[in-house]
Amino acid sequence: MNKILVTGGCGFIGSHTIVDLIQNGYQVISIDNNSRSNADILFGIERITNTKIKNYKIDLCDLTKTETVFIENPDIIGVIHFAAYKAVGESVEKPLDYFDNNINSLINVLKCCEKFSVSHFVFSSSCTVYGNPDTIQVLEETELKEAESPYGYTKQMGENIIQQTVKSNKIESILLRYFNPVGAHPSIEIGELPIGKPANLFPAITQTAIGKIPQLQVFGSDYPTKDGSCIRDYIHVSDIAHAHTLALNYLIEKRNTSKCEVFNLGSGNGFSVLEVINKFETETKQPLNYILSERRAGDVIAIFANNNKAKLLLGWEPKYSLSDMVNTAWKWELKLQYK
Ligand code: WQD
Repeated sequence: MNKILVTGGCGFIGSHTIVDLIQNGYQVISIDNNSRSNADILFGIERITNTKIKNYKIDLCDLTKTETVFIENPDIIGVIHFAAYKAVGESVEKPLDYFDNNINSLINVLKCCEKFSVSHFVFSSSCTVYGNPDTIQVLEETELKEAESPYGYTKQMGENIIQQTVKSNKIESILLRYFNPVGAHPSIEIGELPIGKPANLFPAITQTAIGKIPQLQVFGSDYPTKDGSCIRDYIHVSDIAHAHTLALNYLIEKRNTSKCEVFNLGSGNGFSVLEVINKFETETKQPLNYILSERRAGDVIAIFANNNKAKLLLGWEPKYSLSDMVNTAWKWELKLQYK
């Protein structure tokens, strides 16, 4: 079986991707220092796939320790690099932590791929690289604007580093720009484990509904949108996960036409914050206590994906609806209260 290294394998998207990789015949190992994740998620992966995942609990900013994983696993044929800090608000407060962690860890993983001749590299990028786009439905060729946060800068810089690096070695890469990954695996054995008060909308909704948060704040209701609240492209985390398997297949089967290709991973639909809240209440019959508040600094007004390139070239077809997203997120929140 082809062995894949997943960095950040205990994280939200990393854990769901490991499940999909295993179910599609790959062997997987993980590197995750659990600074922003919980290793217990590996038990959930095991319950779904009946496969124990080895996680190396090391800091990717330590090159020597990172190299030991490649030395111990000479049969790694590809890397999916998720590991990074990803809280937009926190990145504004601690930019140097974000540049230090997100950039140095990426450079070390690329150095190892080069040194140990691992030629397939998939990078976890984000729609934040578009900034506030001129057109709200973005193509991969849409001009990238000023990043709205240091987190967004680390993703723009990461993409540039990879694009330059692959020109001088044998690495073939794919950059996957996620829109808003939400929900939980249909088995409800794994899901999102936000640390502290959640910054993201979906966990903020489910934690408000279950009573962990007294009231949800809607950050802005005076935007130039259909109902005044921001528009985003929410995409189920299991759809995002499967796209990673398809991206690896694409590289391994040498279907790529350049050494660095970019794909948008979004549903192609834009929903406002208030539409998501309404969908949640309708689907779960849980009334939500929310208040219309001030805008949040750094928020993009509206963005959603044109996902035709991933559909055409990767054969990707998102299958989960917004109803599935709110229902799986809610069922996961209900399960967490008994953990
Ligand atoms: C969505 C909308 C908020 C919380 C970020 C990153 C992106 C990805 C996902 C990593 C916005 C509103 C939110 C709340 C609210 N991260 N909101 N009340 O900012 O679109 O994207 O997270 O992959 O890269 O940029 O996601 O869920 O924080 O916000 O009104 O309590 O919900 O203002 O309009 P965002 P989000």
